[in-house]
Amino acid sequence: MAKTEDSGFYTGSLLTLNANSSDEYVKGIYDEWAEKYDKVTGEAGYVAYKTCTPIFDQLLRDKFDSKHSELRIIDAGAGTGIVGKVLQDLGYTNIDALDISQKMLDEAKKLNVYKNFFCAPLSEEPVAEIANDQYDALICIGTLTVGHVKPRAFDEILRIVKPGGIIGFTLRKDVYNETVEHAVFKETTKFGYREKMDEIENEKRWKLLRCDLIDYHTSMDELRAKCYSLMYQVL
Ligand SMILES: C[S@@+](CC[C@H](N)C(=O)[O-])C[C@H]1O[C@@H](n2cnc3c(N)ncnc32)[C@H](O)[C@@H]1O
Repeated sequence: MAKTEDSGFYTGSLLTLNANSSDEYVKGIYDEWAEKYDKVTGEAGYVAYKTCTPIFDQLLRDKFDSKHSELRIIDAGAGTGIVGKVLQDLGYTNIDALDISQKMLDEAKKLNVYKNFFCAPLSEEPVAEIANDQYDALICIGTLTVGHVKPRAFDEILRIVKPGGIIGFTLRKDVYNETVEHAVFKETTKFGYREKMDEIENEKRWKLLRCDLIDYHTSMDELRAKCYSLMYQVL
């Protein structure tokens, strides 16, 4: 596990979250850590975005041919803009950012990657500023997880992505498999991500295109070592 002066992010703040943490509470954590986020996650060997974003890019190129660079993309849980920067380096020019923490978005603004910024929670409530079927694709890395964006937000994600569009995200291996160590997270209930994802698939509202088990963090405990990179197409 990474031991640094800033390691209270992973070993303190994030461990206080559970499946029922409020949006206000998680916002407070990221407001507090915004300026140190890149350093802390870098030291922990946070790498999921380096694998997941290129997989997302490959699917967009496959599905949308040569126009991929103009595709309208939303980075949900954009944070400090790490993912948007990778997309920009891959040639994308039409990316919006959504995050619950204005302080994280303030960091992201410095990168000159995003066109529009939405400071709002991704939840079961529609984001008022975003109309239906606005985006060709949505990417959400490190954000559908314990105490962050809850499974019921998949309905909102599906509302804003067009039919035929791509939705790419990561989900921690133990969260996906419902094998989170309860003693650590003081967790008594299921997280319900996989159940909701399967429900949407059974309702034929999306189909799975790819599922890869990838490295999440390279210098952390086993809990944070692996995640799935999941890619769906909206039907
Ligand atoms: C672990 S960070 C990931 C940020 C970025 N995607 C990355 O890969 O570096 C999680 C982000 O999700 C945001 N977040 C947490 N809960 C959220 C919610 N309900 N709606 C929108 N953003 C949320 C946090 O503010 C934070 O910026």
